[in-house]
Amino acid sequence: MRYLTFALAKGRLAKTTMALFEELGITCEAMKDKNTRKLIFVNEDLKLKFFLAKASDVPTYVEYGAADIGVVGEDTILEEGRNLYEVLDLGFGRCRMCVCGPEEAKDKLLHGELIRVASKYPVIAKDYFYNRKHQTVEIIKLNGSVELAPIVGLSEVIVDIVETGSTLKANGLRVLEEVCDLSARMVVNPVSLKMEQERIRRLIGDLRELTQNKEA
Ligand code: PRP
Repeated sequence: MRYLTFALAKGRLAKTTMALFEELGITCEAMKDKNTRKLIFVNEDLKLKFFLAKASDVPTYVEYGAADIGVVGEDTILEEGRNLYEVLDLGFGRCRMCVCGPEEAKDKLLHGELIRVASKYPVIAKDYFYNRKHQTVEIIKLNGSVELAPIVGLSEVIVDIVETGSTLKANGLRVLEEVCDLSARMVVNPVSLKMEQERIRRLIGDLRELTQNKEA
């Protein structure tokens, strides 16, 4: 039996995923060591390998087949636009992609003015403004702390993830429009799904049952 390899977005998503797997009897003790700097973990009995990658790289590992399966947020999947099968909504990591800004930016959005939009997600932002709103905007790519942009005058609005809303609130910004809902997803390499159909489909089925029971 060959190894099935998982690329997990490191951080909270990977931890929640492993907690879910544990409920299915899929464990990896070495991953629980908080001090470890290791990036790859193996369960020899079940012939599984897990590796921790930066979220935006997870779709890349899966598309190229370096990982058979990935767990990553829908935001990253949409932004990366890779050739993958999205097979399951895992139901955790729920948040929203929103257009945010100061109250006064609302008018500029309504009137379709040529505004500047800062975002870590230029693909999602462009798709929203050009294809859904038919509004021409200037997209400015940032890498983090995006809430700064409208405060310091880099942009009129941002397109970003809102989870609790506390970052917006602390910086005097608010949600102006909603782009889409997001959550953690399981993605699979199309060739892996064919080659390891039985193991992967069984895992998807077990996870689906588990996550549906949790939501019920
Ligand atoms: C994310 C996101 C928002 C914040 C939203 O940022 O980009 O800034 O979390 O969460 P909240 O609604 O619960 O406040 P992250 O913490 O990943 O940092 P970054 O902006 O530096 O990437």
